Amino acid sequence: MLDLSGKVAFIAGAGCVGEGWGNGRATAVLMARQGAKVFGTDRSAEALEGTSAVMELEDHRQWFPHTCDMTSAAEVEAAVQACVRRFGRIDILVNNIGGSAPGDPVSLSEEAWDGQMDLNLKTAFLGCKYVLPVMERQFEEEGVGGAIVNVSSIAHMSHQVGGRVNVAYATAKAGLGAFSRSTAIAYVRKGVRVNTVVVGMMNTPLVATRLAGQLGVDLEELVAKRNASIPMGRMGEAWDIANAVLFLASDEAGYITATQLVVDGGVTAAR
Ligand SMILES: NC(=O)c1ccc[n+]([C@@H]2O[C@H](COP(=O)([O-])OP(=O)(O)OC[C@H]3O[C@@H](n4cnc5c(N)ncnc54)[C@H](O)[C@@H]3O)[C@@H](O)[C@H]2O)c1
Repeated sequence: MLDLSGKVAFIAGAGCVGEGWGNGRATAVLMARQGAKVFGTDRSAEALEGTSAVMELEDHRQWFPHTCDMTSAAEVEAAVQACVRRFGRIDILVNNIGGSAPGDPVSLSEEAWDGQMDLNLKTAFLGCKYVLPVMERQFEEEGVGGAIVNVSSIAHMSHQVGGRVNVAYATAKAGLGAFSRSTAIAYVRKGVRVNTVVVGMMNTPLVATRLAGQLGVDLEELVAKRNASIPMGRMGEAWDIANAVLFLASDEAGYITATQLVVDGGVTAAR
């Protein structure tokens, strides 16, 4: 079940903003545990080092970290070429990069708006732009298809998440859903499946390192408030996202494309 032996996974955003498990790091390690060769990108060498340390500890030798900015077309193209040079192919692409900047149309600066579109949307566009031709070629030559999983947020399903307005983030993640569906249909006969994991409120290092600071609140209070607002009574873990991404990327999900898998402990349904 969910065996990735022989597959190569390209994980964009395979580091983590803090110590511990973020969605991207957990996904990279889980895919390595399932037998994949994993090529992980991150703009932060330090963030990637944390992932490399786990890979080493668990003796995953087919791990290749690559520092690059996924908002730069030239750097993404070079990263994809480096992955193909190292591992010979790409079967799975995970576009995990993203993050929110609070604000409404008046309070958000133009730079912050553009930055949100680049971080949450353009990174996935560029990942697909350079990986899709590799997957299409593999399908034509070997009949082996590829799988792309884009990582979104429940922020696009509700105007507020955790008590704050994020219009640019919500818009970008809504766009990511549309981008995924459209790309899925464009590539449905070319052997590539494209799906989205919609992330709820997770207890990842992102909450401590970024969110608590942005909101100017005590971390313990914030965690308790987030836990209480979820029907299951607790935030999710990075592993909940990694498991969902793994499923959608696996052959077991071979008939699933153009869909969204919401992983949120029931939050959106209860609103
Ligand atoms: N943690 C949550 O509660 C939560 C909630 C909803 C959605 N999400 C989504 O989950 C995804 C990320 O989760 P995570 O836990 O892995 O976050 P994370 O921030 O810990 O890890 C993402 C990594 O991406 C890297 N990165 C950022 N910009 C980059 C760029 N331009 N080029 C290359 N690398 C870059 C960062 O350095 C970081 O290491 C995002 O798409 C986010 O919107 C998270």
